[in-house]
Amino acid sequence: MRLTIDRDRLLSEIDALASFSDAEAPAVTRIVFTPTDLKARAWLKARCEEAGLTVRQDAVGNTFARWNGSDPAAPVVGTGSHIDAIPNAGKYDGVVGVLGGLEAIRGLRQSGFRPRHSIELLIFTSEEPTRFGIGCLGSRLLSGTLSPDAAGKLTDDDGATLDQVRRGAGFCVELEQVKLPSGYYAAFVELHIEQGPLLERQQIPLGIVTKIAAPASLRVLIEGSGGHAGGVLMPDRHDALCAAADLILEVESAARASGASDTVATVGICEVFPGAVNSIPSRVRLSIDIRDTDLQRRDIVVRTIEVTCHSISAKRQLSIHSELLNADAPADCAPAIIEALSHSCRKHQLNFLPMVSRAYHDSLFIARIAPVAMLFIPCRNGYSHRPDEYAAPEGIVRGTLVLAETLAALSK
Ligand code: GLV
Ligand code: MN
Ligand code: MN
Repeated sequence: MRLTIDRDRLLSEIDALASFSDAEAPAVTRIVFTPTDLKARAWLKARCEEAGLTVRQDAVGNTFARWNGSDPAAPVVGTGSHIDAIPNAGKYDGVVGVLGGLEAIRGLRQSGFRPRHSIELLIFTSEEPTRFGIGCLGSRLLSGTLSPDAAGKLTDDDGATLDQVRRGAGFCVELEQVKLPSGYYAAFVELHIEQGPLLERQQIPLGIVTKIAAPASLRVLIEGSGGHAGGVLMPDRHDALCAAADLILEVESAARASGASDTVATVGICEVFPGAVNSIPSRVRLSIDIRDTDLQRRDIVVRTIEVTCHSISAKRQLSIHSELLNADAPADCAPAIIEALSHSCRKHQLNFLPMVSRAYHDSLFIARIAPVAMLFIPCRNGYSHRPDEYAAPEGIVRGTLVLAETLAALSK
């Protein structure tokens, strides 16, 4: 098999996809089911069809592009990632796994290889939690981790439900149909940028993920009392933002107190109402993201934060309501896929680092229904979720080549 990866096509497609954005370049913002996301999906569907793949979309917009294998009854070998991008993001997160996956399949087809198992590219819907507050929507539904009923009722900031929004985007059949039948996959492999600095620092070209860390998130609503910034004296205040400030620092302390470098916690959203310079904040909404490779340690931090909400509420005499949006278990990658990835790396004399994924990915949920593994390529300074996210062309091509060989090995 003479496998070649078309570097120019792959890089120009990454640039083309980045042009579907609601932010000014180099930033990319592509929120699920916005007109921009729908245009990007249409563009990508056309690329998949052009490559000779058969495309189907499910009720939540997960998109499957299939290359039929010689044994249609054999379980599928999957690859893919997501194309939604958080506000002010870069152009590689998710996209490298989608367009790299497509290029890997094109390369295999052109090489004359014929798979026994069908190989399928999967573009997951809403890996990012931006619109509906919870990440990996598509893979949660595919794996049966989230019930169709609960998913349909999730709301965005305008109060529109996922059901309304997806139907508006043309995905109208029932969400019950999204869950994949058991045994659907023989294997699933996701190519992704590392989103951390280890590969670059250690000058190792590839990372093979052995475990994906466990994410949890909390939404907190603090309701105090507002009023005139001049008129209300300090002893009479129940300032929601001051309570939020206490809580934010306690979130940081709780993660540090775990003593393990794998424990991380972040308050990424802080919305202040009414948001006027001369008005005491009466209401604050926070979103808190907590992760660890160890489930127990992660849950201790979650509980500490919940208890802290009560103590701050008592101390400051205001209401704090916290809602646990998700608390997912970590996932282990499958030794057989890790071995297939390692074998390809060794063949090309590419050093690789076995590593933990600290970011979550759709593979975390697909791991509940299939053997999965992930392949990481370096990204400059470990930057991700920011406009200067960058992965070097040679890294992208290398990752795509190893992915292609791994898909071939798994689908024989
Ligand atoms: C995924 O985007 C994550 O936040 O880990
Ligand atoms: Mn991301
Ligand atoms: Mn991603």
